[in-house]
Amino acid sequence: MRFDIISAVPELLVSPLSHSIMQRAQNSGLITVNIIDLRSFGIGKHNQIDDYQFGGGAGMVMMPEPLDRCISELKSERSYDEIIFMCPDGKRFEQKLANKLSLKNNLLIICGHYKGIDERIREEHVTMEISIGDYVLSGGEIAAAVVIDSVSRLIPGVLNNESSALLDSFQDNLLAPPVYTRPADYKGRLVPEILLSGHEAKIDEWRYEQSLKRTLERRPDILDDIS
Ligand code: ADE
Repeated sequence: MRFDIISAVPELLVSPLSHSIMQRAQNSGLITVNIIDLRSFGIGKHNQIDDYQFGGGAGMVMMPEPLDRCISELKSERSYDEIIFMCPDGKRFEQKLANKLSLKNNLLIICGHYKGIDERIREEHVTMEISIGDYVLSGGEIAAAVVIDSVSRLIPGVLNNESSALLDSFQDNLLAPPVYTRPADYKGRLVPEILLSGHEAKIDEWRYEQSLKRTLERRPDILDDIS
């Protein structure tokens, strides 16, 4: 799977996408992450990419020309399953959408900055708008990294044990059960005995009950979606 990401501040994306699971996924060729610096499509000798907004008001807007040239060049090289704009007014990102996106081959992600991008770019090129939550970030890069990380871990082979992505919180609309590692006795707090029993079926049952209990206590709203 390939992610092309257009950014005015590429440095913000480098670290989250170049360690641990994300790095291994790229090294093994399961995903390709290509970050494009929007400045290289900027206008004039200062490579300008933003300008004042028509109608007045504080904050700059990302200009249409640099984005249009950048997106058009990328589109001429491959076709994209989705062209995604990261923005607070987009569709709320949830596990269901991560699952759906993990089945795609080529995604182009546009990171906004300042007040946002000129509306005509959204009309002309963008096929999906995603928000990672009801709050405003300084730019779309951190949000894009969230989306890329959560989608990549669902691609077969990216995690060592494929089934562990299926057991993540929110898959099956349940939160994950509590987990424990050694020592079995930590300052008098004991690991639940069932986990030491070696009885797989009983452990699965216990985990399911714990998931259900935790979801009822913390996020009863997501249980409504179970069909
Ligand atoms: N850019 C700024 N805020 C954002 C958010 N909440 N989600 C996605 N992109 C954003």
